[in-house]
Amino acid sequence: MTRSYSLAGALILCLCTAFGAFATDTPSVAPPAAKPLNIEARNNRFADRHPDQYASWQATSEQSAREDALAEDPRLVILWAGYAFSKDYNKPRGHAYALTDVRETLRTGAPQSSEDGPQPMACWSCKSPDVAREIAQNGEDGYFHGKWARGGPLIVNQLGCADCHNTAAPEFARGEPALTLSRPYAARAMEAINKPFNHASRFDQQSMVCGQCHVEYYFGGEEKHVTFPWKKGIAVEEMEALYDEINFKDWTHQLSKAPMLKAQHPEYETWSKGVHGQNNVTCIDCHMPKLQNSQGKLYTSHKIGNPFDTFEQTCATCHTQSKEALQQVVAERKKAINDIKLKVEDQLVHAHFEAKAAWDAGASEQEMAPVLQNIRHAQWRWDFSIASHGIHMHAPEVGLRMLGTALDEAAQARVKLLRILATKGITEPVLLPDISSKEKAQQAIGLDMVAASTEKEAFLKAVVPQWDSQAQRNGLLDK
Ligand code: HEC
Ligand code: HEC
Ligand code: HEC
Ligand code: HEC
Repeated sequence: MTRSYSLAGALILCLCTAFGAFATDTPSVAPPAAKPLNIEARNNRFADRHPDQYASWQATSEQSAREDALAEDPRLVILWAGYAFSKDYNKPRGHAYALTDVRETLRTGAPQSSEDGPQPMACWSCKSPDVAREIAQNGEDGYFHGKWARGGPLIVNQLGCADCHNTAAPEFARGEPALTLSRPYAARAMEAINKPFNHASRFDQQSMVCGQCHVEYYFGGEEKHVTFPWKKGIAVEEMEALYDEINFKDWTHQLSKAPMLKAQHPEYETWSKGVHGQNNVTCIDCHMPKLQNSQGKLYTSHKIGNPFDTFEQTCATCHTQSKEALQQVVAERKKAINDIKLKVEDQLVHAHFEAKAAWDAGASEQEMAPVLQNIRHAQWRWDFSIASHGIHMHAPEVGLRMLGTALDEAAQARVKLLRILATKGITEPVLLPDISSKEKAQQAIGLDMVAASTEKEAFLKAVVPQWDSQAQRNGLLDK
């Protein structure tokens, strides 16, 4: 494959000079994801052999700031009413926190036994290399069955080496990447879009390993398997069409009763449609720069975070503009996305309450169906744009277009609602409750957050330490 653009001079420097044998753009020799042997999920076991990669991976723990997205924007509580996201939603932080955060979020509740809900096993899927090991040992059915709590004593190591590498490959031991798709469902999805991993170029593979988790997926079938909705393609409308065709919904909205879709974090899809993706500038080019260790040897930094923190080894390998100039461009795009995002949210908040008023006034299912479809589509497109963190960098034009169509769908819903309300004799505007803070918004939809938090604290104190000690006894976790 080629990277046909004029900025390539510096690129040769960053990728090819010091990386010797494995720096060529040929498919890596990782064996198929279907039969990896001895997957080692204990990250610390690789500290001695790969000290630079290990130390930089561990340094993602420095990205510890937790940003409460609901507190920053309480409209989200209303948009996700009836769904666990309305209780708790933080922005992403360092990879070293993936497991901690899925244990601590209120969304996973406070299960007291391995059969307790509320969430399925699938919720562990993008959090830990133990998932790769479990699937390799027991197959996907063996891994996915049951509730999230069943995985407590099994899924115990933070997101790490075996999520992206075939840790059993001799090449890996020798210091080559041996990248792999450790999740067979991701490997199948990539095949469905004509990107079988083992035939992909090294650059494609680099982004595909991130695309195991930084994607849109849903929990399909009885056993709630992670499934990528890519059958019709990876554009927002194509996934929407698939979800409509199979009548999928994540939940029924508490206020409007619309059959809702929750977008996950479709960075892979949105990146691929943006200018960098189109030129096959990979996630790694920006998020995992090649750095020098103290002996002057180049290695891949695993401190995956904000590329501006290592500007010289990321953007500046291809661009001649200054850091400030490029940051300014990104900041402007972020503002443009944010402005229209808030407009869509305001429209949707009104639409949910107006739909509730229409139901309360006796509207029929038949009258409401087209409205609910508009709300579903509007919110899905809005969510797809904002849930893809970094869209302002990865594909701002795609983000703006998606948000534009979301605004249109939301406006259509409201026009129809005004007509329905008028036929029921309601001509006054439907008033909103006070949703000026996260707490007030949660009260407005009747959430008892005190109880949820108290149960969670007790669970973290009593249950989680038992999971860890059981895993230690079973040799899955080092002390
Ligand atoms: C999120 C995915 C991901 C995780 C997690 C990850 N790596 Fe990597 N690793 C990569 C990528 C991508 C490369 C670069 C591949 C390339 O250059 O084509 C890489 C490269 C490497 C290399 C090859 C030498 C080099 O520096 O380029 C080694 C060795 C390595 N990683 C070790 C580790 C170890 C040890 C861990 C766990 C502590 C780990 N990796 C965790 C994605 C990951
Ligand atoms: C096994 C699943 C998985 C893989 C593979 C993965 N990620 Fe992540 N990533 C996550 C999760 C989960 C989080 C959020 C962690 C949290 O907030 O607790 C995250 C967070 C991030 C963040 C936010 C970091 C911060 O400090 O704000 C970036 C950037 C990121 N990932 C990029 C990448 C890139 C680039 C790759 C490929 C090299 C990759 N990820 C591979 C699951 C994954
Ligand atoms: C051209 C460079 C570039 C490429 C390619 C790129 N990113 Fe990013 N990404 C960035 C920058 C820069 C930011 C931070 C934007 C900002 O400062 O607001 C970011 C932000 C993110 C975030 C959000 C982090 C947070 O804490 O909110 C995630 C997650 C992420 N990228 C993952 C990926 C994945 C996965 C890929 C590949 C599919 C990818 N990126 C490709 C430059 C890039
Ligand atoms: C591996 C090379 C490479 C890296 C690394 C890279 N870019 Fe680019 N960038 C490109 C290419 C190629 C284009 C498209 C140029 C064109 O078509 O004219 C581009 C285009 C752009 C554009 C203008 C296109 C648009 O969106 O309007 C901006 C802004 C930009 N990059 C910012 C960044 C930032 C910020 C970083 C670091 C976070 C970065 N790039 C990292 C190769 C790279």
